Amino acid sequence: MSKQIITTGQAPEEIVPYARIEWVKNRMLKEYGEGTSTALFHKTEIAKARAFHRTFPDYRPTPLHSLKSLAKTLGVGGIYVKDESHRFGLNAFKALGGSYAVARYLAQHLNRDLNELPFPVLTSPEIKAQLGEITFATTTDGNHGRGLAWTSRQLKQKAVVYMPKGSSLYRLEKIRAEGAEAWITDLNYDDAVRMTAAKAAENGWVFVQDTSWEGYEEIPTWIMQGYGTMAAEVTEQMPELGADKPTHVFVQAGVGAFAGAVQGYFASLFRGSRPQTIVVEANKAACLFRSAVAADGKPRVVGGDMDTIMAGLACGEPNLIGWRMLRDYSDMFISCPDEIAAKGMRILGNPLGRDSKVISGESGAVTTGLLWAFAHDERLSEARAALGLHENSHILLFNTEGDTDPVKYRKIVWDGEISSAAR
Ligand SMILES: Cc1ncc(COP(=O)(O)O)c(C=O)c1O
Repeated sequence: MSKQIITTGQAPEEIVPYARIEWVKNRMLKEYGEGTSTALFHKTEIAKARAFHRTFPDYRPTPLHSLKSLAKTLGVGGIYVKDESHRFGLNAFKALGGSYAVARYLAQHLNRDLNELPFPVLTSPEIKAQLGEITFATTTDGNHGRGLAWTSRQLKQKAVVYMPKGSSLYRLEKIRAEGAEAWITDLNYDDAVRMTAAKAAENGWVFVQDTSWEGYEEIPTWIMQGYGTMAAEVTEQMPELGADKPTHVFVQAGVGAFAGAVQGYFASLFRGSRPQTIVVEANKAACLFRSAVAADGKPRVVGGDMDTIMAGLACGEPNLIGWRMLRDYSDMFISCPDEIAAKGMRILGNPLGRDSKVISGESGAVTTGLLWAFAHDERLSEARAALGLHENSHILLFNTEGDTDPVKYRKIVWDGEISSAAR
């Protein structure tokens, strides 16, 4: 691994290999105001997304759990887990993005303001008659596709969903159960995205992808603004739990849309006094980490199969909008092996003391596993010190999914697959 890293040209002393957890401080960090504009994630923009989400009959803020016993055990002031397994009955946060992007697209198409199109209006027969038949297309490891399929079904529209090779059959069936046409391809995530974009252009479908590149930014921006609802809920919920705001936020990343949205929101809200943000990836798909190591401001790409249990994080090409936010305002980038995610699933599913039980899937749990590693392995002490993690730290984590593949969940949590015991 270090060989690979050195070829990207970073100063070697910035990298500390820890088993296969690696970390790098962000050497591109900017003062607020000197970096990329965070205007897209300003609270007024996020308030629009949230106002739309509030019109859903199933809308409820997801719980924010304060895991006091875990915090005490790990030697920090507080651990707060935003539990997105409760979002819209879909077991993951993703529908926040797809639904808002589709709504913004339709409002634009109808030449109306989204204010006038709350969910009951948007799903009404009158609007359907005006819209006719529209097909939304995407690529997904599961969660985004299910969210888009769910949105399309509610709007009486069609969805076509492609999945990368190796995707879970259970997740495929969940997407089909929402009425979408869905297939598992023999391509990796990023190649499947390119194929879907081409098919959408060929067939006149609306391509709703949760990643972005030069020239494809509008829909991904709406998706990211939709994710902002989560962060906005957190800023209301933390004071209710006795903490003003987090001192540290750990955000897991695939393409970095979710992480970039949370980063953009907190940077815009708290500016110079924003929490420290730590971007966490699967080591098989650590494109943002590699980009941070290269430290020349340009995103790096990881190819190949990216076989990790963290299916939601198995993306090798950064989202451009997300990358800009993370590059300019995040403090550290970390690459984690599967065992860390498995450890997090076990910790959250088997709470200490009176802590709430949190069912967390592979991509949801990695940050909790990492926090455990920070507390237990001296080889991470330099990283811990660099972040100033101590007994007064109030740490925010996002459980971005529940057991979205329940068979796999039980294999890991019940049967001990992917052992996280010390070696
Ligand atoms: C459960 C879960 N967590 C995190 C992510 C990462 O989101 P992003 O690809 O925007 O980085 C995903 C993406 O699919 C996901 O499904």
